[in-house]
Amino acid sequence: MTDIFSPVRLGELELANRIVMAPMTRDRAGPNDEPTPAMAEYYRQRASAGLIVTEGTQPSPHGKGYWRTPGIHSAQQVEGWRAVAEGVHQAGGKIVMQLMHVGRAAVAANKNPDAETIAPSAIACPDPIAGPDGVPVATVMPRALETSEIPGVIAEYAAAARNARAAGLDGVELHCASGYLPMQFLSSNSNLREDAYGGSAQNRVRFVVELLETLAAEIGPGRVGFRICPGVRFNGMADADPAETYTTLLRAIDGLGLAYCHLIHIPNDGFDALELVRTNWSGAVIENCGLTLEKARAVLEAGKAEAVSFGYLFIGNPDLVERFRSGAALAKADRTTFYTGHGDDHAGYTDYPAITGRGTA
Ligand SMILES: Cc1cc2nc3c(=O)[nH]c(=O)nc-3n(C[C@H](O)[C@H](O)[C@H](O)COP(=O)(O)O)c2cc1C
Repeated sequence: MTDIFSPVRLGELELANRIVMAPMTRDRAGPNDEPTPAMAEYYRQRASAGLIVTEGTQPSPHGKGYWRTPGIHSAQQVEGWRAVAEGVHQAGGKIVMQLMHVGRAAVAANKNPDAETIAPSAIACPDPIAGPDGVPVATVMPRALETSEIPGVIAEYAAAARNARAAGLDGVELHCASGYLPMQFLSSNSNLREDAYGGSAQNRVRFVVELLETLAAEIGPGRVGFRICPGVRFNGMADADPAETYTTLLRAIDGLGLAYCHLIHIPNDGFDALELVRTNWSGAVIENCGLTLEKARAVLEAGKAEAVSFGYLFIGNPDLVERFRSGAALAKADRTTFYTGHGDDHAGYTDYPAITGRGTA
């Protein structure tokens, strides 16, 4: 029987317990997209998680689409992340950076004026996205990448992974979910390319496969995880056959020795995503979405995943692991301060107390 509080190894990552903090965009980076002291404090408070996955972080200015998301492409950003990693490590935790390139899921006012919005095909993201004042607005019509430009985009991710390691983070997680650039390549309705990166499932997975191969070569496969959500319709995704797409992807990357597959497990017509992952992927799995302690224990005890992740619960409970351990009540998080984008950055961010006194500022 697998105990949720027992240590586990995911590739090169040694976790003290199986409770992972899921990546969460909080829109509080500094004016140059650099992590701030408040961000370092927020992550330090949550370091008793077996692993923290940071909020989505853009590998380049072109990869930004939301307001005040952090980057990992400048020296100032690397220094900001160094403070984050040091705080988490000093508190005994582990932290990997989620690399998130939004592709077409971008609002012009949220990014630098000279940053481009690119995608596999020139099809706009139909879902509006919050602008600088928090009000949802239409996304930018993307420019379809030339085939010859794809290695350059992959090189941006590789540089970002190098920077993450230089800043002291333990690894990276490639965000291939939620309708961002990698998923735009995967999904048949957002990828109408006629080159080797579009058409068949084999071709649509090529961008993600090459990305993961490159990241693995750059920082070692055991420090690279990836996140998927087969069949999710967020940000205009509507793959004609997600089971085929993700079976093809998982089989193609199974031999790379990557640290883990992080699954956002949502109900799908015709297939169960966790079963699909278990059947086609022999590496470690982090299960996510709507879990409670009870549900998470059931997943682990049934051997369906090696670790479990929690998003929402970590916002209001910096000491979630201790609360689970002691059976203490869980605090509710205030949804109105998930993405403040302005005003007091600490409100609803670093001011949730820990019950034990440990972990708070
Ligand atoms: C405020 C907020 C921001 C999020 N930002 C990200 C993100 O940057 N990257 C990502 O992969 N998922 C993101 N998610 C999704 C979470 O990682 C997680 O999959 C989701 O909340 C479901 O898990 P839960 O039921 O434990 O909250 C976000 C969720 C929330 C609530």
